Amino acid sequence: MERIGRGLLDRVMETVATVREDVAAAHRRDPAATDDRIILLTSPGLHAIWTYRAAHALWKRGAKLPAMVLAQGARSVTGVEIHPGATIGRRFFIDHGMGVVIGETAEVGDDVMLYHGVTLGGRSMERVKRHPTVEDEVTIGAGARVIGPVTIGHGAQIGANAVVVKDVPALATAVGVPAEVRAGAAHPEEQVDPAMWI
Ligand SMILES: CC(C)(COP(=O)(O)OP(=O)(O)OC[C@H]1O[C@@H](n2cnc3c(N)ncnc32)[C@H](O)[C@@H]1OP(=O)(O)O)[C@@H](O)C(=O)NCCC(=O)NCCS
Repeated sequence: MERIGRGLLDRVMETVATVREDVAAAHRRDPAATDDRIILLTSPGLHAIWTYRAAHALWKRGAKLPAMVLAQGARSVTGVEIHPGATIGRRFFIDHGMGVVIGETAEVGDDVMLYHGVTLGGRSMERVKRHPTVEDEVTIGAGARVIGPVTIGHGAQIGANAVVVKDVPALATAVGVPAEVRAGAAHPEEQVDPAMWI
């Protein structure tokens, strides 16, 4: 009994710590977000990721129906649709929420930020890995579509409304339709090897 109580307490402490770091990430990334209580109560992106985490835990335990129902509930409230089978890292932040779609086999690293209208979508009807892999510290601009099992490398930036259908190297900036890596690194202190450009 004592062990169960301690396990539950550990789980609650872990959840509180996660919520705190998510709120801190939102605070850091959104200049309009100045009050933690307002962020906590009104950020649809955070509400979507918290619901996703619960749905993902259910999905991993094989409770697929309740996981999908929870995910669709979050979609109705926040406008963000994250498939419970997707894998998403820590301090993930979606600014504005609305219109984001993240597919079942998408893999998203830590410290990733999306704006509204981003799709991490599939291009195949096969039941295979068909959605993007987004590495740590990537930012994806409003309305961008990243489709297929492409990899967006660590620290890359995807411009608003880009359509990405090929890998983007680490630290690069890709814009346009179809997206191309533009000259100059996302982080000027880092150099991107031009041979790696798409
Ligand atoms: C792609 C992005 C990250 C580049 O930022 P940056 O490195 O500061 O680049 P700059 O603004 O200096 O622009 C550099 C060039 O790329 C072009 N460019 C910038 N963003 C672009 C985009 N989304 N699509 C097409 N071209 C773009 C600029 O016109 C400029 O072209 P030029 O060199 O021919 O003049 C940024 O423009 C962007 O799209 N961020 C997403 C922001 C967003 O979604 N905000 C939503 C808030 S609600």
